[in-house]
Amino acid sequence: MKTVIVSMSADSIDAEQIEAAAKVIQRGGLVAFPTETVYGLGGNAFDPGAAKKIYAAKGRPSDNPLIVHIAGAEDLFRIAKDVPKEARILAEKLWPGPLTMILNKKEDLPKETTGGLDTVAIRCPSDPVARELIRRSGGFIAAPSANLSGRPSTTRAEHVIRDMDGRVDMIIASDDSRIGLESTIVDLTVSPAAILRPGYYSAQLISELLKETVVSAETAADPDAAPKAPGMKYRHYAPKAELVVITGDREQTVAAINEKIRESQKAGKKAAVICLEETAKRYDCPDVFPLGCAGDEEMIAHRLFDVLRKTDETKADIIYSEAFETPNLGSAIMNRLRKAAGGRIIAADGSPSD
Ligand code: TXA
Ligand code: MG
Repeated sequence: MKTVIVSMSADSIDAEQIEAAAKVIQRGGLVAFPTETVYGLGGNAFDPGAAKKIYAAKGRPSDNPLIVHIAGAEDLFRIAKDVPKEARILAEKLWPGPLTMILNKKEDLPKETTGGLDTVAIRCPSDPVARELIRRSGGFIAAPSANLSGRPSTTRAEHVIRDMDGRVDMIIASDDSRIGLESTIVDLTVSPAAILRPGYYSAQLISELLKETVVSAETAADPDAAPKAPGMKYRHYAPKAELVVITGDREQTVAAINEKIRESQKAGKKAAVICLEETAKRYDCPDVFPLGCAGDEEMIAHRLFDVLRKTDETKADIIYSEAFETPNLGSAIMNRLRKAAGGRIIAADGSPSD
């Protein structure tokens, strides 16, 4: 398929190109578009055929439901039923923005969009290009992250072009995603509400707004229970090389990673390192990727997926990453890093690690 690539920045929206993109969505085609979290791969949420095309373009299993993107909170009533007061509170306080709510779906929203579920994930993004596209194309765009299944999410136009050129009708190449991690997902069909995926908005903030303690699916008692967000069970965010995360205090971590680099080099393997700006010069390795300074967790989050993709260009066989347990975004950052590592987490001091 020939993909049309158009460029525009959020502060210079090209109305004609957005109109062309909206037409693509209306006639059942696919458009990759920017959002403040990560780029999305969009199709008409009311068109079962569009959902099938999205699964095919991503190479994603079709039991993995899509998020429906809306341009204004009031549109949530068109696709969700039994909307609880918690949804109204979160919509008022956190939309437009990086929050997805799970609610019971209305009957006429196709099951192809929701992966066969009776619930629907809904998000109202803040990115101006996304909002304009959603509004002009009819108000309901189903979109997963615009990456090939299993690969790191796309936070820059060049990532989207790399993964989606030839697979979609149009790509809107825009600014880098401001946040760089996917939205927080909160399930409001259960009580108390549950966080299914940590993101920019923390469980603590959502608990404060709802005046109840929301539970986190990650800390749920039975880790082997069927995951509530079906997408969370698949291999995710993976760079091409094996990724290992080392936890521990800074000195121990630097020493442990340097030791691992030496072992890898002896075994003839090329190593790369993902770390803080502060420790970048301390690694005996040519391929070191600092994410940001220890105090700048927004930068660490913003750069994570880009750096996971950049490590591919080094042809590394193995990547060692520091852990980033930062105060607010730490759980979201570490959730992505743990998945990218396929669970390979090692404590720097050799103690058992979970
Ligand atoms: O920030 C984001 O949320 C981005 C941008 C494009 O909006 N989208 C995104 O979509 O991350 P995706 O498809 O990559 O991840 C959506 C997650 C999946 O893990 C999926 O299983 C879960 O949301 N999900 C979707 N609908 C659900 C539902 N009805 N119940 C439970 N989980 C659901
Ligand atoms: Mg995704």
